[in-house]
Parts: sequence; C-alpha cells; structure tokens
Amino acid sequence: MNKSSETEISSALIKNYTRYNIEFTGGKGAYLYDSKGKKYLDFLSGIAVTGFGHCHPKITEAVEMQLHSYWHISNLFESPGQELLAKKLSKISGLDKAFFCNSGTEANEAAIKFARLYNKDKFKIISAIGSFHGRTLGSLSATGQYNLWKDFKPLVPGFTYVPYDNTVAIEHSIDEYTAAVILEPIQGESGIIVPSEGYLRKVKEICERNDILLILDEVQSGTGRTGKYFAYQWEEVLPDMITFAKGIANGFPLGGVIVSDKVAEFITPGSHGSTFGGNPLAVAAANQVLDLLNSDTLNDIQLAGTGLKETLNILTSEFIKEIRGKGLMTGIELIPEISAKKTAKELLTNGFITGTSGDSVLRLLPPFIITDKEIKDFAEGLSFVLQPENVDKLKK
Ligand SMILES: Cc1ncc(COP(=O)(O)O)c(C=O)c1O
Repeated sequence: MNKSSETEISSALIKNYTRYNIEFTGGKGAYLYDSKGKKYLDFLSGIAVTGFGHCHPKITEAVEMQLHSYWHISNLFESPGQELLAKKLSKISGLDKAFFCNSGTEANEAAIKFARLYNKDKFKIISAIGSFHGRTLGSLSATGQYNLWKDFKPLVPGFTYVPYDNTVAIEHSIDEYTAAVILEPIQGESGIIVPSEGYLRKVKEICERNDILLILDEVQSGTGRTGKYFAYQWEEVLPDMITFAKGIANGFPLGGVIVSDKVAEFITPGSHGSTFGGNPLAVAAANQVLDLLNSDTLNDIQLAGTGLKETLNILTSEFIKEIRGKGLMTGIELIPEISAKKTAKELLTNGFITGTSGDSVLRLLPPFIITDKEIKDFAEGLSFVLQPENVDKLKK
C-alpha cells in the first residue's frame, strides 16, 4: 500500500481514534504480522480480548461450524447456544441467570437498567472516581472520569462518584434512593489500580446492610484475565450482578450480564433487549472459550502473571516507578518524566504491542497462551527501549 492510499483510507474514517500507521494482515497465537512482513509479539490482545491468541484452532472450528448452520435468528426463538453459555456462566460465577448483548458498554447499560427495575423507588448509583464503564450515555454517566463526559452533558441523572478503594465514602453517599454500587474489581483504564484486600468484601457487606445491589464490572478483569474466572473471586465475595464482554468470545463481539435470581425476577419481557445480542457466532466462540478456560488454564495464567512480574522486576530500570496488577493484567507505571504513549510507540517499532493507561502507565494484557520465552523476549525489548541512552525520545 502506498502512502497516498493510506491517507485516503484513514480520511474516510471519523477521527475518534488515534491509529498507528500499521496494517496487520494476519495473526497466529501471540503474534501479529503486518503488510511489510514484520512480526509483532502481541502484549495487548486487542485490549484484553484475544485471550487464547489469534486464530485459536478450536475457537476457529467452533465458529466455522456455526457459520455453516445459521448466523442470526433474532432473540424471538430458542437459542440452545445461549442456554449452554448461560449455564456455564452461572456455574463459574455463582450467580443464576444471564442476558447477552454485544459489548461492555451495553452490558453496563443493561445492569444500570436492571438495578432500577429491581427497586423502582430507587434510582441512584454510586460509582468510583477513575472508573471506566463505557461510552453510551448510561455507562458514560457511570464512568467516574470528568474528561470523558464533560462534552456530553447533561448526563443521565442519579450518579455519584466516590474515591476508589474507600468504603467510608460509599457508606456516606448512600441515601434512601440509592439502588446500587458499580465498581471494577481492578480499575483497568485508569492504570491497573488494584484495591486493598478486603475492599470488595466490605463493599458487599455495606450493600447488604443497606439493601442495595453490588454490580461488578468484569469487562476487562473477567473471563480469566487475572487467573480466576472473575477477578472478584480473589476475594470470595458474590456480587448481585456481573457485567462481562471483551475476552468472553476471543474477538467476536459479545457482552452480557449475569444476575442473581432475586434480580432476574424483576426483568420481564420487553423491559430490555438487543437485536444482535447473543449472536450465534459469538456465542459459539464463547462456549469454546469457556471450555478452554478451566482450572489448569487459570493456573497457567496465574503462573504466567507471576513470571511476568518477576521478569519485569529484574529490570530495575530507573525509569520504572511501579509494576502492579493481577495475573495477566499488568501495569507498569513509568516515572512522571517519561511518556507511556511514546514508550508504547517505541516498543511497537521494536515489534512489541502494548497499551497505555493515562500518561504514565504501560498496560500489558498478553494472551493467556504466552510462554516464558515470550515474556523474556518482551522484557528484553522493554529493557532496550528504556536504556538511559534511548530515553531522551520518550520524554514528555
Ligand atoms: C471495565 C470496562 N468496562 C466497560 C468497558 C466498555 O467496553 P466496550 O468497549 O466493549 O463497550 C471497558 C472497555 O475498555 C472496560 O474496560
């Protein structure tokens, strides 16, 4: 592709994304290949989506089988695939019933509506400062980031924002109209922020005492990413609703909400829906993902996460402030002088795909199939990029 056609293609798209000037032509396992034949080690997984890597043979086969059966039938008919997936989700989550949509933002949108259905006299929802719950108006209103919603006011009324990892603030914000608390078990977009141990348990206890619902947004932290099916399971706490998306179908658009029976009871025909929600192809992929995600793979994710942190810790670069996270959801906070975006760009030039959160955090979300050798390769790449003689170009 020559330069002018690249310009032509990008000029036809609305500029709501900053795109790297790279065209991928294929992917296999933990690697992507570009149109110039260059190979990249994928430590981003399409932002926590392709957990089992690119073109996993079993997931490809499951989608192919469905592709030759039917693609779409609407939610007016029986869906054995959705039934099976809902049963699997119920078993691994400890909750009872599932609803399927197409993305994380829609999942949170549904959960907000379900919370208001559950108790019609209550409408307020408490969320955390720094949280990210999506881009549609309901989930954007739940998002505790002024910068993301300042241009779209008025927001949906009824949202209150409290500091993350602070249970006193939640307790103080509750009033007779409070319907729910929505939280990420680990804040992803704002820099892989892991709350103190016991935080979710304490929040659940407050919710129970005040008869309000606890919604956990597992869109990024769920479906194996932290080495448990869902990140809340590190604390052995059971929320009333879980929202999920991203990794559930390894790249097919699928999201959803799993709820307890006490919430499900209030969700009646016509109260919510989606034409494409629970699309058969996406559901076929998701059923295969959950077959691949078992105690052995979860254990492998935990080991790989520990290995990644240990390997990165050996770097002891003067430009790294902190390495944090759980399982394969890892953040590297750089010192304030260094730009995470410039670092990610330099890593990309060296064949490593990473993400960023804010100005200072490199976000690593490698696929679950990552090997020790690939972790070592990445650490060496990062070490090279952060050499004192190379960092001038990474300064903010
Ligand atoms: C925690 C969390 N919730 C919701 C969303 C929104 O998901 P989607 O982009 O699929 O709408 C994201 C996306 O990054 C997320 O990380």
